[in-house]
Amino acid sequence: MVPNKDSLDDMFQNPEIRANYVQNMFSEIAPKYDLVNRVMTFGLDIRWRNLVATAAVGTGADLIIDAGTGSGDLALECSKMGAKNVFGLDFAQPMLTNARSKSKKNDVTNIDFAAADGTRLPLRDAVADAWTGAFVLRNIPKLDLALQEAYRVLKPGGRLITLDAARLQPSTLVQQIAAPGARFHFNKLVPVIGKILSGHEDAYSYLPVSAENFFSPNEFSAQLRINGFTVVRVFEYVFGTVMMHIAIKEQ
Ligand SMILES: C[S@@+](CC[C@H](N)C(=O)[O-])C[C@H]1O[C@@H](n2cnc3c(N)ncnc32)[C@H](O)[C@@H]1O
Repeated sequence: MVPNKDSLDDMFQNPEIRANYVQNMFSEIAPKYDLVNRVMTFGLDIRWRNLVATAAVGTGADLIIDAGTGSGDLALECSKMGAKNVFGLDFAQPMLTNARSKSKKNDVTNIDFAAADGTRLPLRDAVADAWTGAFVLRNIPKLDLALQEAYRVLKPGGRLITLDAARLQPSTLVQQIAAPGARFHFNKLVPVIGKILSGHEDAYSYLPVSAENFFSPNEFSAQLRINGFTVVRVFEYVFGTVMMHIAIKEQ
């Protein structure tokens, strides 16, 4: 267990320890994961995943890879939006159990869920029309490896769509005015609400620390470019606390 903010900060210096922590933590919070998401985002997470799925499916997709699929909401949304096949991957088994039962309950037959690490995808090169990751890359210490894997499995012209919490760097006047409130919500309220609802000691204290250690929208665009992608659109939601990137692997 990682008990306090200093230990959480330290953990970001050690990729192996962090990856282990992330895998155990998501396995432990799996039963309450959806509930906490809905409450702490006021239900907006549903809308954001819909936007990701819409961009991923585009005018048609034979195969979408949803990395860090968790409880499967984005994979299900991609299926609902018209993807022919979806492959949802995650390294936390209890999350996959939730995803499979949700998929079964909804009579969805075109999603396969499997255990895999986002930095070593069990897929051949150039098989996917889109790669999606919602609130995932921030949790992967070896970000470059995950992006290189996404690039590898995408067909030329394929789309990468990511949604994640951003490192807060208010750029507009509205964002500057809202920043203290956003910080209070994220740094103070979310850890308390998350702890009460999930029963997990530190998972929701890890969340704001992971965002602080991640990238602003512009910085993340640079990471995508470094890894070969062409950034097509960047969206910011809720005063710049959440960002969506759409990028392509050029033909
Ligand atoms: C915040 S959850 C997001 C789940 C889902 N995408 C959603 O939108 O609700 C992050 C998920 O990524 C998974 N994850 C983190 N690092 C991973 C890695 N290296 N390989 C595979 N899955 C990973 C975690 O197990 C967890 O289920």
